[in-house]
Amino acid sequence: MAEAEVGDDRYGEDPTVRRLQEYFAEIVGKEDAIYVPSGTMANQVALRTWTKPGSVVVAGRNQHLVQFERAGAAKNSSIQFALVNDRTGELDPSEVESELALQSYFGLEVSLVCFENTHMHSGGTPWSIGGLQEIRRISAGIPVHMDGARLFNAVASQGVEPSEITKYVDTVMSCVSKGLSAPVGSLLAGPSDFIDHAKVERQILGGQMRQAGIIAAAGLVALKEMRERLPEDHYHATLLAGAISDRYPTCGLQPENVRTNIVIFEHPDPASFISYLKSQGVLAGTISPTHVRLVTHSDVSFESIELAMKIITSAP
Ligand SMILES: Cc1ncc(COP(=O)(O)O)c(C=O)c1O
Repeated sequence: MAEAEVGDDRYGEDPTVRRLQEYFAEIVGKEDAIYVPSGTMANQVALRTWTKPGSVVVAGRNQHLVQFERAGAAKNSSIQFALVNDRTGELDPSEVESELALQSYFGLEVSLVCFENTHMHSGGTPWSIGGLQEIRRISAGIPVHMDGARLFNAVASQGVEPSEITKYVDTVMSCVSKGLSAPVGSLLAGPSDFIDHAKVERQILGGQMRQAGIIAAAGLVALKEMRERLPEDHYHATLLAGAISDRYPTCGLQPENVRTNIVIFEHPDPASFISYLKSQGVLAGTISPTHVRLVTHSDVSFESIELAMKIITSAP
């Protein structure tokens, strides 16, 4: 980062940002990409670029874009969501089909179909290739956006090239922070005319940066070097899941379903459990009033996981 070559990205003159955007676009098989400060902004820019006020976006009920972006979709894009079941991680194809039929019956325009891969709320679940093909088929003629904040966890879990997943969507956003360990930054990729328009929307949302090569340099390390170690995080998550299901056999967690770096389970008293873990040096969070979330990443070693397992096993 200290040695990054920089320029004014307002004028597209930061060589490091350009390299990051070009590299991301290349690996996800899209024409172009833009760098933005956060995953939330990437989703919000995508919405503003694809949609117009009063149009409908079909999305999963538990997606980040729906539940965790402070109703930004309504404020920034004035869209209306048609929400479908995504309990397993994938959008229920029959519900998507009936929503599309229903919205057209009401004379409303569906401007986008949007889903999340991996799907955080269901426990970091990667979409099956069959599921991607089905959603692409059903959405014929409607743009499809993938919130791939953790796309590379899906890639690592399925052992495929990123483009094998992204070829089924028109646009994809992905974070170089989170499991890929850069301190900041996300990318949004798609057709070049879409990205030209997205640059305007990024500016409107205040995401246009200047000498951003300093942070983009970390993004390049994230995409080039950190991807290959993600299976380690996935293995650690399965170990944690085993300890949790031993300690709480009725918590609804099936360790064999933990396929990436997120472990989510029901707990009768999440606040006390989390504060007990914290007192022992293990940090956890919640995703709802009833569900606890643990995430593994590059700063958590195998030894730390072993220790966390012991602490979980002896939780009161
Ligand atoms: C699936 C998903 N999408 C988007 C985001 C937003 O990313 P950021 O925190 O960089 O805004 C997150 C963050 O946790 C996420 O889990």
